[in-house]
Amino acid sequence: MITSILLVGAAYLLGSVSSAIIVCRLMGLPDPRTQGSNNPGATNVLRFGGKRAAAITLLGDSLKGLLPMLIGHLLGVGPAGLAAAGLAAFLGHLYPIFFGFQGGKGVATALGVQFGLYWPIGLGVAAIWLFVAKVLKISSLSALISMALAPLIVWLFWPEPVLVGGQLLISLLLFWRHRSNIRNLLSGAEGRIRLDTDSEG
Ligand code: G3P
Repeated sequence: MITSILLVGAAYLLGSVSSAIIVCRLMGLPDPRTQGSNNPGATNVLRFGGKRAAAITLLGDSLKGLLPMLIGHLLGVGPAGLAAAGLAAFLGHLYPIFFGFQGGKGVATALGVQFGLYWPIGLGVAAIWLFVAKVLKISSLSALISMALAPLIVWLFWPEPVLVGGQLLISLLLFWRHRSNIRNLLSGAEGRIRLDTDSEG
């Protein structure tokens, strides 16, 4: 029990480290909270910072979800502890204690949690994200579709109610954080990913 509580606390603190803000500072780029969608996330960094900065941001944000899960497995933490730690890392990214509780939308961190929980779950969600992104070229829509299906994927690979419930909470929060994207999608104003030109438009 104490191990799970410590893991949850550490996961929240790790999730609170904003890769986008740190990467942009280190690479001499503007603060992502003042550019594009104002979101400190890989998609927004891609818009103004290029593929390299976006890839490092994506990696950093994914690791924040992956590491607590791997450590949880190593320590023999059960499904309830893993679900709580995954949710804590995700909440840290959304509401970071180090950045005035103004964080990102959580897609990369959720993917890290899913890969760390059980890699086929992460692979399934990432495959849907990539497929939708390839066909429709809209990052937010890829995230919304893949995360809407994520509870089902968890249920297929590890049908433990607390894990499915944890993923459901993550998906609901992720939809809540994508409110502006959903509005833009409905009005046809959402931008497309353009990796060829190193930006999005
Ligand atoms: O990963 C976040 C993505 O789904 C949307 O980001 O910057 O287009 O709001 P953004």
